[in-house]
Amino acid sequence: EIYLNGLLTGEPPRFPTGAAAVEAAARERMTAEAYGYVAGGAGGEATIRANRAAFERRTIVPRMLRDVGVRDLSCSLLGTELPAPVLLAPVGVLSIAHPDAEPAVARAAAGLGLPMVLSTASSVPLEAAAEASGDGPRWFQLYWPKDREVTLSLLRRARAAGYTTLVLTLDTWLLGWRPRDLDRAYLPFLQRIGIANYLSDPAFLAGLATPPEEDPLAAVAHWAGMFADPTKTWEDLAFLRAHWDGPIVLKGVQHPDDARRARDAGMDGVVVSNHGGRQVDGAAGSLDVLPSVAGAVGDDLAVLFDSGVRGGADILKALALGARAVLVGRPYVYGLALGGEEGVRHVLRCLLAELDLSLAPTGHARLSELGPGVLGTD
Ligand code: FNR
Repeated sequence: EIYLNGLLTGEPPRFPTGAAAVEAAARERMTAEAYGYVAGGAGGEATIRANRAAFERRTIVPRMLRDVGVRDLSCSLLGTELPAPVLLAPVGVLSIAHPDAEPAVARAAAGLGLPMVLSTASSVPLEAAAEASGDGPRWFQLYWPKDREVTLSLLRRARAAGYTTLVLTLDTWLLGWRPRDLDRAYLPFLQRIGIANYLSDPAFLAGLATPPEEDPLAAVAHWAGMFADPTKTWEDLAFLRAHWDGPIVLKGVQHPDDARRARDAGMDGVVVSNHGGRQVDGAAGSLDVLPSVAGAVGDDLAVLFDSGVRGGADILKALALGARAVLVGRPYVYGLALGGEEGVRHVLRCLLAELDLSLAPTGHARLSELGPGVLGTD
């Protein structure tokens, strides 16, 4: 459509089409603090670079004359039917990118039938994002609070609001060391806007001595004391399994033994992810650890992937190395900053178009045809 429109009108598209150009344009629209928070990572940001290097090191070997006239990008994932193997990664506090925030992203994702994984740290309550997603698929990401009653309450609310799949994030019991945010003292600001799910939670509010309208800082302090529990171990997963009757996916798995433990704990999937390089400086590129995780549990669990996906060829490479689907984070946030719901839709549609135009010219009509043989060996 973008090609055709260009042919007919001679006009360029309203937003740029490549991920780097979208980021550059979004940067112009964002505050330095917000851009630094989204773009940045842990320490010297070696992991962000490793994520991209892992993609760039791999090559695709196209095959010819294989009838790719009719292509099918659809797949089924833990009971969710997807038109393409793409989900929107959980990203907190989206109001820093655009005032329409999570509801705009939910509408754009739902319009394309793609699941938005709503973050616990969303800037609107989970019910508002659910409503905006209409008939679209709903997944909820949990930052597992210390407080048992608040945890149960969040799970109940997510279920009641129609979220089907729970994504438990394992790599952020403590926030990574992120110099860009530290230098700007940005986190205290984020904490105040990223607790909408708590300020709307009856179990959380019941634990406050004074209502948050009267003492907002006390509410933030109360939240900070329970936001996450770094003492959690594999044994604790039984609690979640007992209180969530849909699929549970563990996000942040990087080692095959951890993936096996996820399977043994009755989990349904894992996301091979290093949080977009935001948690551990000097970690391996996420794509580099994908084959070993997929090799360990790919037949038993849904293996998803994120960290560094920027275009259609990246999705093809991740699927070839064993992922069933990918999550994208920063690219859609930049789309949101550029053009609200319209900007997110644009970024997602470009990604899907580019995936189609990566599959077809390389001789693939269906996702099931992708395997390690698609990639070069050097
Ligand atoms: C994140 N991510 C994240 N993950 C999560 O489980 N809960 C969250 O609230 C957030 N918040 C968040 C904020 C911002 C600004 C970013 C960039 C990322 C991590 C996210 O889900 C995903 O793992 C990475 O973004 C994937 O890497 P790319 O696609 O951004 O390279």
